[in-house]
Parts: sequence; C-alpha cells; structure tokens
Amino acid sequence: MESPGSSTLTHSFVRSLTGGDTKEVRRWNSVPAAKATSSANPQIIFSGIQPTGVPHLGNYLGALREWVRLQDTAPKDTRMFFSIVDLHALTVPQEARQLKTWRREGFATLLAVGLDPSRATVFHQSAVHAHTELFWILSTVASMGYLSRMTQWKSKLDLPEDISLEDSAARAKLRLGLFSYPVLQAADILVHRATHVPVGEDQRQHLEFSRYTANSFNHLYGNIFPAPEAIISPAKRVMSLKEPTLKMSKSHTDKRSRILLTDSSEDIHKKVKSALTDSDASVSYDPVHRPGVSNLLEILSHFDGRSCEDLAAEYKSSSLQSLKGHLGSQISLHLQPIRERYLSLIADKTNYLDVVAEEGARTASANADVTMRRVRETLGL
Ligand code: TYM
Repeated sequence: MESPGSSTLTHSFVRSLTGGDTKEVRRWNSVPAAKATSSANPQIIFSGIQPTGVPHLGNYLGALREWVRLQDTAPKDTRMFFSIVDLHALTVPQEARQLKTWRREGFATLLAVGLDPSRATVFHQSAVHAHTELFWILSTVASMGYLSRMTQWKSKLDLPEDISLEDSAARAKLRLGLFSYPVLQAADILVHRATHVPVGEDQRQHLEFSRYTANSFNHLYGNIFPAPEAIISPAKRVMSLKEPTLKMSKSHTDKRSRILLTDSSEDIHKKVKSALTDSDASVSYDPVHRPGVSNLLEILSHFDGRSCEDLAAEYKSSSLQSLKGHLGSQISLHLQPIRERYLSLIADKTNYLDVVAEEGARTASANADVTMRRVRETLGL
C-alpha cells in the first residue's frame, strides 16, 4: 500500500530525485504500511545529519546535494525540514565544547551547500522537544527483537554482526541510547509526518524500521502516521579513499580517507593523489576486483554526469595519474563556492546562524506540535 505522499509525487519527479532509478523508491512502497488518514496533505520531506564536524564528500553526494536538489525542484507546496541531529550524537561519548562547535559547523555547512532558510526549515533537533516526546511514545510500540537485529549498535561497539543481546560483551558495552537510536530516528521522521526521506544507502535499515514502527503504531491506535519513503541518492555509498571497501566516514583513523567540504584545493589534490588503488596503473571500472580506481570513477561520474564505463573508456589510454588530477580539479572546482560561503558564515560576527536556527526551531516546533496534539488525543493524554 502506498503512503499518502507517494500518491501525489509524480513519477518524473521521483525519477529526477533518484537519478532515474525509480525502483529505489518502489522498494519502499513494497513494505506493507497502514493507510494513514491525511490523504490531502502535501509532501513533507525530512532528513538529518549528525554533528560530527564538517561533513565529508560522502555526506554531500549521498545526502546534502540531494537535499538542495529537492529544495530547488520539488513542487511549491512541498514542505522541507532538515535537522542537525545533535541528540543522536550523544549516543557515543562527546566533549561538550567540541559538540557545541560541531553543531555550529554542521549548521553553517547546511546553509553553505545551498539550503535556503526561506524555502527549507533548518534546525537543531534538541531545540524541538516533540522529537523526544514522540521518541518515548514510539518506544512503547517499538520491537526489541527488531532493534536487536539491527546493525548500527553492533558496528559502533565493534561487535560482530551475529552477536545477540544475551552475549556478555554486548551486555557490558551496550547503552540504552545507542540501542534505541533508530526509535529516535523514527520519531524525527514521524513527528514531522514526513512522506519522503532523502538519505544515503547506509540509512536504508533505519528507514525500514521507521516504516515498521509507524505501521505498528497505526495498527494499535489508528491511522496517524504516513509511511515514509526513502529517497536513496544516486551516490548511494561513496567509499573511503584509503580503504575503498569501506564507506567514506568520519570514524576512519586516517584523515586522508575522506574529503571534507571545507578542504582547500591543495588538500583535495593531495588526498585524491594518495587514494589507495591497486598495482595496475591502468584505468578500468570493476568495483569488485578494482574497488579503488572504481571509487574514483564513481566520484567523478557524480560530478561529471557521464557513466563510469564511459569515463573508464576515456581514461583507458591515459594514466591513473591523469584521472586523479582531473578528479581533484573537479572536486575542488565544485566545492570552492561551498567552502567560501562556509568560511564567511562561520566568521560572521552577527548572530545570523543563531537567528536562522531559532526561526527554524520555531517553524519545526509548530509543525511537530500538530502531530503531537493528534498523538496525545489518540492516546488519551
Ligand atoms: P549521518 O550523519 O551518518 O549521515 C548523514 C547523511 O549522509 C549519508 N552518508 C553517505 N552517503 C553516501 N556515502 C557515504 N559514504 C555516506 N556517509 C554518510 C547518510 O546516508 C545520511 O543520509 N542516522 C542518521 C541521521 C539521522 C536521520 C534522521 C537521517 C537521524 N535522524 C532522520 C534521516 C532521517 C545518520 O547518522 O546520518
């Protein structure tokens, strides 16, 4: 059964969001969901990013660039909410001053990449209390069995994927907040009655859980929540420059494994130049046997628009070095205006960022309160 939003989202619009890959969206439609009552509602888009420092190229291609694309192409009555999910960041130990800096840097980055506060609501999750209220309410219907099978708490604690909650290592290390992280994520999405959630591939499992939890709630209490659909970016999974079988991430110990959106042109060239490839100096596209060079081709294709196969054919007769040089130039050209806007926003001595954040929190609270009034009434609170 389709969610209310999908019925109004045109096929060509979805195609433009997924780089032509409409089956990504259809896959979400195939998960059964209760029919919600709000069929006349316009589409609502929600997504979030953790404040873990300046975002990297994976965050950008997998999420932020798509958020801006949506902002610029979605029908006018589509509402959009993008959040720095600072409460999620607390599921691993944080140093207060560092977190404060990262929240600000994250916020500045969202504006620097092109989110326009007059079109999209940008806010800090912790400033909108309805997220945590709904989190608690959803935790009364969320399945422990489902949560225990999910992978993120295991990977964050360096535990094997097949470990069970009964295992002594899991019991010793696992904290409730990390375990229930997906419930807060479901609350983020559902409190805004989001119909579409643009994310990278690594968030697929969390989106499935959100749909399942919306369905569980609706089944018990009536049709309150639309089932959110994931919009998976065409850049599903940007890989590490140093370990190309792993996704590019903030947690890798080698800083050269990721390109930050604020890196200088020189740093970008150095990082691309030092990207790990194999002993073969030629260029070909073969993600299974040649993950390093294939990752470079994939990143280039996301800037260039041509397919990896076409790019590989072009560079076949030249060298890996020239591919790396061209890729470094493309990335720095694209990121330069973002970096400049970011530096000017972060250096701004007026309280512009705070004003935008406060306004965003007000708008997001007003939207979330509409949901919470219905939820409270439904529950008899
Ligand atoms: P986070 O902060 O890890 O990542 C933010 C977004 O960036 C995408 N991403 C990538 N995409 C492609 N390749 C990569 N290497 C890569 N690394 C990260 C992620 O898929 C994500 O879209 N749990 C979420 C934050 C969150 C959220 C939400 C998202 C909290 N509540 C509600 C959507 C809706 C997270 O940790 O994302």
